[in-house]
Amino acid sequence: MVKNEDLFKKIVSHCKEYGFVYPSSEIYDGLAAVYDYGPNGVELKNNIRDYWWKSMVQLNENIVGLDAAIFMHPTVWKASGHVEAFKDPLIDNKDSKKRYRADILIEDHIAKLEEKINKEIEKAKKRFGDKFDEKMFRETNPRVLNTQNKIDDITKRFADLTNNNDLKGLRALIEELQIACPVSGSRNWTDVRQFNLMFSTQMGSLIDEAGSVFLRPETAQGIFVNYINVQKTSRKKLPFGIAQIGKAFRNEIVARQFIFRMREFEQMEMQYFIKPGEEAKWYEYWKEQRMKWHLALGIPAGKFRLHDHDKLAHYAKAAADIQYEFPFGFKEVEGIHSRTDFDLTAHQKFSGKKQQYYDPDTKESYVPYVVETSIGLDRMFLAILANSYYEETLDDGSQRVVLRIPPLAAPVKVTILPLVKKDGLPEKARQITDKIKNDFMCQYDEKDAIGRRYRRQDAIGTPYCITIDHQTLDDDTVTIRERDSMKQERISIEKISEIVCERINTNV
Ligand code: GAP
Repeated sequence: MVKNEDLFKKIVSHCKEYGFVYPSSEIYDGLAAVYDYGPNGVELKNNIRDYWWKSMVQLNENIVGLDAAIFMHPTVWKASGHVEAFKDPLIDNKDSKKRYRADILIEDHIAKLEEKINKEIEKAKKRFGDKFDEKMFRETNPRVLNTQNKIDDITKRFADLTNNNDLKGLRALIEELQIACPVSGSRNWTDVRQFNLMFSTQMGSLIDEAGSVFLRPETAQGIFVNYINVQKTSRKKLPFGIAQIGKAFRNEIVARQFIFRMREFEQMEMQYFIKPGEEAKWYEYWKEQRMKWHLALGIPAGKFRLHDHDKLAHYAKAAADIQYEFPFGFKEVEGIHSRTDFDLTAHQKFSGKKQQYYDPDTKESYVPYVVETSIGLDRMFLAILANSYYEETLDDGSQRVVLRIPPLAAPVKVTILPLVKKDGLPEKARQITDKIKNDFMCQYDEKDAIGRRYRRQDAIGTPYCITIDHQTLDDDTVTIRERDSMKQERISIEKISEIVCERINTNV
């Protein structure tokens, strides 16, 4: 088992070494918080994207797709509230000159207190063994109770300060908690200021205010402004959803944690348009559905948790995160938001165009409410990799790094390996590759000893290796080796596609 502190560093370097993720423009020393996906990364990303699209659009009769442009009319962002409210509170340390997000400094402080509780629990678990009751321990241990009270108090005050946009209060809280700059170690802080996260650029040749457009900070607005078009052209009745996958851009103040927080990233969002008054029901429904989607990938349930927001985005009436336990703690992978009629009503007002739906059942017209599911594709990619990375010592004493990526998401599903590079085995292996490459992503590899070739495939998470040996030439059978158990069985060439398809299939 790799320790958490090391795991993250190892994943970052593994991603580069095996063609998953590279720093952007690396030959120019990279660009902060921007990354490029290599040959294996792009396959993994495509597979996660397809899995999401299938679960939303293919499996739900009342959800349809959209691909809206990244550039939108600048008034969209006034109406949506992003010009006014899409800001993060920033603070500088006067000694190190480093810039931080004030809210993240406080969240990290809370995470440290949570870590303290977790350590107490780990210690007690060891002491009490099987008899240990975590719930009772949390409710009765004085040290744990004391720390939990502190967490609750800070969380509540923090939420009130952010909801009231109280920047002075945020700074006072940072001082009261004695939060120090991780670089200088000092508590010499500036005031807290607000910083808008949207990137802007110029459209056309005129460099003036009128030509300024924003790079979208969320894909959702492309859905909102197209809701009437989509509803009419696809003749949908409420409730119905519009799904979209695309790039989003945020000028993040704190650019760290690899692809967890990027300045250019990809979102997979679905807006579910519903009758006003039904928002509580659909909010609960989508929280449950989305959690099922994550668990169907086979990642252990204990690695996910639902976390209700204390601090709500400017558009949300209720919001919850699905968090994954990354090597740096539980963090948001997906948000489920009850957005009411906030966006459509604002677009109706700013555009002067009616955004109402005529309900043929009740004969009423109204602006629909919206429940949104919004997942970061890059964060899901990181969650899958973090969950997959294992270093193992094998029975013969050798070491392997294996990515136990859910087979459905693995970049390469099958690699075909001729046992030796002679006796007609490569030709036979090529024939088999040509036969099955239509069904899923395959690789052919004849270089190096078979053991080394297995190691290479383990390191990129290939679930199945097919080996062609001399017996194959006699009876058209091959061995199929499973990545995690390393078990091998003999099957006929005819059956390869059927067996692999059956084993990699994941039902949502
Ligand atoms: N339309 C709602 C919305 O954008 P959000 O919680 O701000 O909500 C949704 O973002 C998801 O997008 C997050 O759960 C996260 O997975 C992803 N995301 C947000 N900012 C990101 C960033 N800077 N880098 C990578 N992913 C990000």
